[in-house]
Amino acid sequence: MAETTTAPHSSPTHPGVPETTEWDSTERLGKDALADLQLERLQGTLRHAYDNVPFYREKFDAAGVHPGDCHSLSDLRKFPLTTKHDLRDNYPFGMFAVPQEQVRRIHASSGTTGLPTVVGYTEGDLDVWADVVARSIRAAGGRPGHKVHVSYGYGLFTGGLGAHYGAERLGCTVIPASGGMTARQVQIIRDFEPEIIMITPSYMLTLIDEFHRQGIDPRSTSLRIGIFGAEPWTAEMRTEIEQAVGIDAVDIYGLSEVMGPGIASECVETKDGPHIWEDHFYPEVIDPVTGEALPDGESGELVFTSLTKEALPIIRYRTRDLTQLLPGTARPGMRRMQKVTGRSDDMLILRGVNVFPTQIEELVLRAEGLSPHFQLVVSRHDRMDHLTVRIEADEVTTPEQRESAPHMLVRAIKEAVGVTAEVTIVDPGTLERSVGKLQRVIDNRDG
Ligand code: DLL
Repeated sequence: MAETTTAPHSSPTHPGVPETTEWDSTERLGKDALADLQLERLQGTLRHAYDNVPFYREKFDAAGVHPGDCHSLSDLRKFPLTTKHDLRDNYPFGMFAVPQEQVRRIHASSGTTGLPTVVGYTEGDLDVWADVVARSIRAAGGRPGHKVHVSYGYGLFTGGLGAHYGAERLGCTVIPASGGMTARQVQIIRDFEPEIIMITPSYMLTLIDEFHRQGIDPRSTSLRIGIFGAEPWTAEMRTEIEQAVGIDAVDIYGLSEVMGPGIASECVETKDGPHIWEDHFYPEVIDPVTGEALPDGESGELVFTSLTKEALPIIRYRTRDLTQLLPGTARPGMRRMQKVTGRSDDMLILRGVNVFPTQIEELVLRAEGLSPHFQLVVSRHDRMDHLTVRIEADEVTTPEQRESAPHMLVRAIKEAVGVTAEVTIVDPGTLERSVGKLQRVIDNRDG
C-alpha cells in the first residue's frame, strides 16, 4: 500500500468511525506538487500509448501531435479524444499496451448492444486499483478491521472484484456476497455483522424491502456506512437510504474503461460529490457537442486520461457522464466532481425536451406516502412520445395519498422538467427489483 501519514482532522459524526484519518501521502499533496506529478505521469502515459498501441500512434499522427508536444497539463487538449467505439473497433485486445503475458486480469462491460468493451490490468494496475479503492473506503469512514459486505456483482463486471481487493488492501474483512439471493444477503448481514456495505443504490432498496419482508428493521443491523455507485442516484435517494438503514451513504464513481470503481469517491465528512483521485486519473470536462474543453465549474461531459495505467493507457476517454469539476473540500488538493446526474445515453428526448431519469427520481422521492420504486415507460402514439411514470404504493399508503399523488406529481413534473407525463400508482411488489444496475427506463418506441 502507498505510504500513509496521519492527518488529524475533525472526524465524521458516526460512532465507530475513529477520530483520526490516515491519508495516503499523495492525498496530502498541494496543488503545485500534484500538478508536477500529473505532468510527469501524463508525459509518460502519452509516450507509452504512442509507442505501444498502433491505434494511438495512428490517431496522434493524423492529428499532427506527438507525445513530445505535451509541455503542460493544458497541452493535453491538443490530443484526440477516445470513445467506446474505438475500444469496440479494437476488440478484444487491440488497445492493450503490454504483451499478453503481463496482463493479470481482464474485465469487460456488457453494454446494451454489440460487442463488450474489454479492459486489461497488469500486476501494477491491480495494485494501484486496490490502493484507490482502499482510499475510497477510508474516505467513506472505513477503517482496518471493519467488515465489508460486497454486493456488487463478481465476474467480468468491475464492481465486485474492484471493491473486494480495495477492502482487503485497507485491512478490512471482506464478505464477497456478490449480487442476488437477496434473502440470504439479509441473513448474512444479520449474522456476520458488517459495518460497511458496497452495493448499487437500487439493489440497496431491494435489500431494504427484504429486511421489512422478514420483519426486521434495517436500522437495527450493524451497518454504519454504505458505499453506493455504478448508477446515478440523487440527494433524495441518499436521504431515503440513510433514514431507512441508519447509515452514512456515500457515492463511489468509476468506469471499467478507466479502471473500475474508485476513480473518485465521496468523503463522509462533507458528502458533497466524489473527490477525484487525480494522481492517477486526470479529469477534463468538455462540451459534448463541440468537444472543446470547458473551464472548471461548467457542466459538460467528463473525460479521463489515465496517468499510471500500464496494460490499457487511456487518453481523453469520453465517459458520456454529465457533471462539472469543483474545487476540493475534504481533500483540498484534489478536485471534486458534481454527483453524476446522468449519462448522455440515458437522456430521453420527449417532444423536444431533454429528460433525465434522475430529475424524475427527485420528484418521486419527495412525494408523500409512496415507495422509492418507480419505472419510466416511454411509448409513441400518433407520432407523439408519451412518458408514463409507474410508482409503487407502500403498504402504508393511504387511499387519499394514492388518489392525490398522481395529480401532484403530474404538476411537479410539468413545472420542474417541462413535460406532460402520466403518473400511475401500482400495487406494492409490482415492479421488477434490481439486483445490480437498475434498468430504470422501458422504451417501447420503435427503432
Ligand atoms: O459501474 C464501475 C463501478 C462499480 C463504479 C461499482 C462504482 C461502483 P461500468 O460498468 O463500466 O463500471 O459502468 C460505468 O456507470 O460511466 C456511469 O455512467 C455509471 N456510474 C458509475 N458510478 C456511478 C456513480 C462501473 N457513482 C458507468 N454515479 C459510468 C453515477 C455512475 N453513475
